[in-house]
Amino acid sequence: MMIDARELINYAIIAKGKAYAPYSKFRVGAAVLAKGGTIYSGCNVENASFGATNCAERTAIFKAVSEGAKDFIAIAVNSDSENFTYPCGICRQVIAEFSAGMKVYVSNRKGEYKEYTINELLPGAFTGEDMK
Ligand code: THU
Repeated sequence: MMIDARELINYAIIAKGKAYAPYSKFRVGAAVLAKGGTIYSGCNVENASFGATNCAERTAIFKAVSEGAKDFIAIAVNSDSENFTYPCGICRQVIAEFSAGMKVYVSNRKGEYKEYTINELLPGAFTGEDMK
């Protein structure tokens, strides 16, 4: 990969600065590294109708896909928490849709991180293969 985990986390930290989280006050940023080297970042975008909220990971992935990227190497997630911020279940499903071997870097407010694959975070994911 062209950039390392720490650099991708830095993009997630910058994206966190754009979080729209007036209700939870929990700011999240994510950054996706696409094959080819382009980075797409995103933040959580909340809504007064809470269920309309979009997580940072899905914002980043939907931005990438809508720009034509579908093959991803890694995604980094960051929040202001002292704990590592993991993708929620819905975001794991969206991540699994695209690149089976994709790496997921979960990080905390200090920038410390742990590395997983999406397969580790969502084993047995339902995919298009299951519809054949
Ligand atoms: N959130 C994310 O953006 N990503 C995660 O991985 C966990 C949760 C957001 C959704 C909501 O805006 C806030 O964090 C609290 O759940």
